[in-house]
Amino acid sequence: MENKHIPVMIEEVKSYIPINKKLNIIDATFGGGGYSKIILENFKIGKLIAIDRDPLSNFFAKKLSAKYNNFKLINGCFGEIDNLIEKENLNNTSQFDLIIFDLGLSTNQLEDPKRGFSFLTNSPLNMGMGHNKKTVLDVINKYSEDQLSNIFYKFGEEKFSRKIAKKIINARKIKDIESTNELSNIIKQSYNKKSKIDPATRTFQALRIYINDELNELSKALEKSLNLLKVQGKIITVSFHSLEDRLVKDFFNHNSGKRWRSSRHYPELTDDGPITLKLITKKPIRPSDLETKINPRSRSAKLRIAEKISIN
Ligand SMILES: C[S@@+](CC[C@H](N)C(=O)[O-])C[C@H]1O[C@@H](n2cnc3c(N)ncnc32)[C@H](O)[C@@H]1O
Repeated sequence: MENKHIPVMIEEVKSYIPINKKLNIIDATFGGGGYSKIILENFKIGKLIAIDRDPLSNFFAKKLSAKYNNFKLINGCFGEIDNLIEKENLNNTSQFDLIIFDLGLSTNQLEDPKRGFSFLTNSPLNMGMGHNKKTVLDVINKYSEDQLSNIFYKFGEEKFSRKIAKKIINARKIKDIESTNELSNIIKQSYNKKSKIDPATRTFQALRIYINDELNELSKALEKSLNLLKVQGKIITVSFHSLEDRLVKDFFNHNSGKRWRSSRHYPELTDDGPITLKLITKKPIRPSDLETKINPRSRSAKLRIAEKISIN
C-alpha cells in the first residue's frame, strides 16, 4: 500500500528540534510515518517511540522498524500515553526531549472509501480511527434528537444542529441511515441557502470528534506529557480545527501562568497549580503559502510549541 499522506509543516517542526544532542522523542501520531522518518534521518536519536491508534500504521512502520533499532511503534491511544510507555518497560518519567502531536486524520485514513470519514465518497457510516467503542452508524440510528443536536453543536459548532437532528430522526422512521451519502443528503436539506463549505462538513467533523473522543484524548495526553518530558523538553502540536487548537492554547496558557479560558465550551480554569510550561510560540505558526498551494490539506494547520520549565 502506498503512503498518500504528505507531512504537514515538517520544515517548521524540524526547525524546533535541537541538532547538537541525542534526543528521546515520542511521535504520538505516527500516521504514515512521515514525521518519524524525517526525524530518524536528520537527527541524533536515542529512541523514537511512535504511537498511533490505527492498526493501519503498523504497515507503514515496517520499513522503519527494519532499518532503525531505536524506533518502535506502539498501537494504542495517546490518551494512555503514560501507560503505553510504561508497558514497553521504558522509564516513564521525565526522559523525553520532545513529544509531538500532529493531530487529526492522515490522508490514508481520509481517502479510504471503507472508513466513512469523507462525505465526498459513499461509504458505510463508521469513522472509527481504531480502538473505538462506538460507530457513527449506532450514533445516527440510536441517539435521541437532543443527543444528536448537542453533538453537532458542541463538536461541529453547527448552527443548524437542531434542524439536522430533527431531519435525521424523521428519516430514520422510514429506514436506518446507513451510508455517508444518505447522511450528507439529509444534512443538505437543512441548509436553505448556499454555504461556503459543504453543508456536511461540520456535522461530519462533530461525529468524528465524538466517536473517537478526540478532545478528551488530547487533553489527557497533554496533561500526561508534562510528566514524560525532561526539563527543557518540548510539546509540539499541529492542529487542524479550532476546538483542538483552543484546547492546546488553553492548556499551554494555563500551565504557563495565564489563567483564563478562550472558550465558554471549556471548563473554568482554577487559579492554582504550578507553572510548568513556557510558551515558545506566542501565536500559532501557520503553513507557508507555498505549502498550502502544494498540499491544500495543510491550509488549516496551526503549530504551537511549549517548553517544560523546572518547578521550584
Ligand atoms: C495527521 S495524522 C499524522 C501524520 C504523520 N505525522 C505523518 O507524517 O504521516 C494523525 C494520526 O494520528 C492518529 N491519532 C489520532 N488520534 C489519536 C489518538 N487519540 N491516539 C493515537 N493516535 C491518534 C490518527 O490515527 C492518524 O494516523
